[in-house]
Amino acid sequence: MEKRAKIAIANWKMNGDKQLLQQFANIFNQSIFANQVVFALPSVFLADDLAKSLPNLAGQDVSCYQNGAYTGEISAQMLKEAGCQYCIVGHSERRKNHHENEIILLEKIKRLKEKGIIPIYCVGESLEDYEQNQTQKVLNKQLLPLMEQNLIDQSIIIAYEPVWAIGTGKPATAEYAQKIHQIIRELILVNCGSIANQIKIIYGGSVKSENAQNLANYADIDGFLVGGAGLDWIEFRKIAEVCL
Ligand code: PGA
Repeated sequence: MEKRAKIAIANWKMNGDKQLLQQFANIFNQSIFANQVVFALPSVFLADDLAKSLPNLAGQDVSCYQNGAYTGEISAQMLKEAGCQYCIVGHSERRKNHHENEIILLEKIKRLKEKGIIPIYCVGESLEDYEQNQTQKVLNKQLLPLMEQNLIDQSIIIAYEPVWAIGTGKPATAEYAQKIHQIIRELILVNCGSIANQIKIIYGGSVKSENAQNLANYADIDGFLVGGAGLDWIEFRKIAEVCL
């Protein structure tokens, strides 16, 4: 079986400025990172000339509509024109703060696929669900609708991000992350067949240079979705190097 290449995705969220973008552009314009690194920048930076020096770009979100009177929203076509190859869908901050559920998220994935943009679909349990052993149930709820609507293909990226690990400085242990990634892959295998072995399942939640290598050593951990450490180019370069 062909080995899955690893990937490091920096999600800047609503952080950063032009100066930071310049620093990252200086470092990540090297071709060694061409396939391994993606930047989910705030949308206004995606279209900036400096962003063109970065290897791959992602939207942090997309509208579930194609176009129209939706003030503040950004369409899949606009992301494509800004040069995005990827887009995050269903980050826990969107699920929680903007009440996004699977019905909306499936539409977003469809809009992206229509434009050939690869969705980075986020899943993961809350602290409460974790403490009540509901992780598997949550993952089924988040993933099965995609399978029912044939939205899983080999290019989709699944980001497993336990909500209790995001921005807390308390990452999941690598053993726990591996266990959940394996559960996710088996769920895809049962429902979609052997493409499960080609799909990247990446981990997010307090990834730092100090824990990235250990996580990456596990068979089903195919890279990272990085928040805080993705705003520090020294840190993020080390994380990206783990993925080379
Ligand atoms: P964090 O964020 O790395 O700051 O925990 C991860 C994420 O929200 O994707």
